Amino acid sequence: MKKRITILTPFILLFLSYFMFSYTTETLNMNDEVINSITLDEIEIPNDVQEVLKEKCYGCHNTESKGVKSKKKFNIDHLTDGKYSKGKLVSKLGKVVEELEENNMPPEKFLTKYPDKELTTEESKLLMEWAKSQREALMGE
Ligand code: HEC
Repeated sequence: MKKRITILTPFILLFLSYFMFSYTTETLNMNDEVINSITLDEIEIPNDVQEVLKEKCYGCHNTESKGVKSKKKFNIDHLTDGKYSKGKLVSKLGKVVEELEENNMPPEKFLTKYPDKELTTEESKLLMEWAKSQREALMGE
């Protein structure tokens, strides 16, 4: 009996290590998939775009902001916290382009009080191009 176990030991070990190996590769592959899906759905916001959003838009368009309407219509926090579905992201990015094309944001009333918050032509272009490219990337998946 004892001898039989000794003879079988290498096979048992081989079997176990095969099992462990396939298990770990499977879990690794699974993690890869999860990571890919997160990066694909996520919006990329380059530093220069973040800077403009922060300076000129974020004050009204974040979860903590006082303006109920402004944060309900466009919440910059939700671009990256997963609260906007992919469809919603596509539509919100489209709204960003629309608002900027029409020169609606920041609102004129606000700009009379804080003229330094007006977007420069370059900033507006930067935001529009960013929103368009992210929107296309999301739709193209
Ligand atoms: C002073 C506050 C304020 C600032 C600053 C501001 N917004 Fe807004 N934004 C609003 C308000 C209020 C609304 C809702 C307007 C309405 O529907 O009547 C709005 C609406 C929007 C919408 C949604 C439009 C729609 O129809 O769904 C987008 C997109 C938007 N803003 C983008 C921006 C961007 C981009 C910036 C920065 C360049 C910006 N906003 C800066 C107050 C602000």
